[in-house]
Amino acid sequence: MDIKTIHEGLVEIKTPEFHKISSKAPVFYNPAMELNRDLSILAIKTFEQELEQEISICDAFGGSGIRGVRYAREIDNVSNVVISDINPLAIQCAKENIEINNLDNVKVYREDANILLRKCRGKFDVVDIDPFGTPSPFIESAGISLKAGGMICATATDTSALCGTYKEPCIRKYSAKPLKTEYCHEIGIRILAGFIARTLSKYKKCIEMKFAHSSEHYMRIYATISKGAKITDESLKNIGYILHCDNCLNRAVVKGFAPLTPAKCPVCSKNFKIAGPLWCGNILDSTFIDGMIKNMETTKINQEKKACKLLKMTQIESKAPPTHYDLHEASKNLKISAPRLDDVLDSLEERGFFASRTHFKPTGIKTDAPVTVLKEIITALHIKD
Ligand SMILES: C[S@@+](CC[C@H](N)C(=O)[O-])C[C@H]1O[C@@H](n2cnc3c(N)ncnc32)[C@H](O)[C@@H]1O
Ligand SMILES: [Zn+2]
Repeated sequence: MDIKTIHEGLVEIKTPEFHKISSKAPVFYNPAMELNRDLSILAIKTFEQELEQEISICDAFGGSGIRGVRYAREIDNVSNVVISDINPLAIQCAKENIEINNLDNVKVYREDANILLRKCRGKFDVVDIDPFGTPSPFIESAGISLKAGGMICATATDTSALCGTYKEPCIRKYSAKPLKTEYCHEIGIRILAGFIARTLSKYKKCIEMKFAHSSEHYMRIYATISKGAKITDESLKNIGYILHCDNCLNRAVVKGFAPLTPAKCPVCSKNFKIAGPLWCGNILDSTFIDGMIKNMETTKINQEKKACKLLKMTQIESKAPPTHYDLHEASKNLKISAPRLDDVLDSLEERGFFASRTHFKPTGIKTDAPVTVLKEIITALHIKD
């Protein structure tokens, strides 16, 4: 078997060479996930600094061990890292990579993630869930294995379900209805966050969203977990629904488990479509993102440029309300050509509204302006052109 050497962050990793990146590879390694791993380093560093104490980390889907090895090498104050995988070849590979990087605080197990996490009840400060496809079957076990105040990091690559290309798999996996709209990636992240919140609530545990992003073929969430019936009840008030009008692009956010929702759009009287239940609260914490940006100064990562751009963008959009518009979709709806995005953002701000770009889409607009105002502005700029 040919061996490939990879350099990410401060580590060197060896993994069996393979031709096509797929779950059938002898040991899974995806170079496209380097940004995901780089951001994980920044997020866990920030979490450790906020906690001000040693942390234990579980990388429950280790693959080559690259994540766990990086966490152990690159993050300060890590007492121990557990790397586990169900694939025996991956375990062998992870063990070799621990040796290559001279680490003595990393343990390796070959175990199904659910079994490992259930055995380790209340053991970890950070649990990383990075499976093939959906993380949904592992969220409950991750919640059980975390200490109160710990952080769950979860990747989802089943974006076609979360974004509503395929509705039924989303309902099956997340007990939530997706909606194919111009902001379906944001809806997807909110469905995943809502699912985590609902899954953990039976243990009187609730989430505080720290950071989330949708990049390339995946979505990633970082949330801290607190325990208590009262705070969980309070936190669950962030669960609700998004109503969307296909005809005029109006949307509304309705919080509550079984809230009364208007059937018709108040702008054009056509029927609303509905997505949810999902997380209507914040998905980005600006203080936490500040910490991640600050940590970039002292962290060696190959994807620095991309990470910096993403963090700065999410920093701004952390102050925005849920959902976003798309300049082209809104212009198409008006049957006119799209004006310059910066001009639209300037006009929104001039009229006293919040306005920013979003990392979800290069032509996306985050604003608290009603759709009618956004359309007035697009029309006025079109006439000026
Ligand atoms: C997407 S890969 C992990 C990639 C790795 N975290 C990285 O950053 O390179 C998913 C891994 O989960 C493992 N796996 C699949 N099902 C599992 C299960 N039920 N329990 C534990 N590991 C599992 C696979 O063998 C594979 O190595
Ligand atoms: Zn409407």
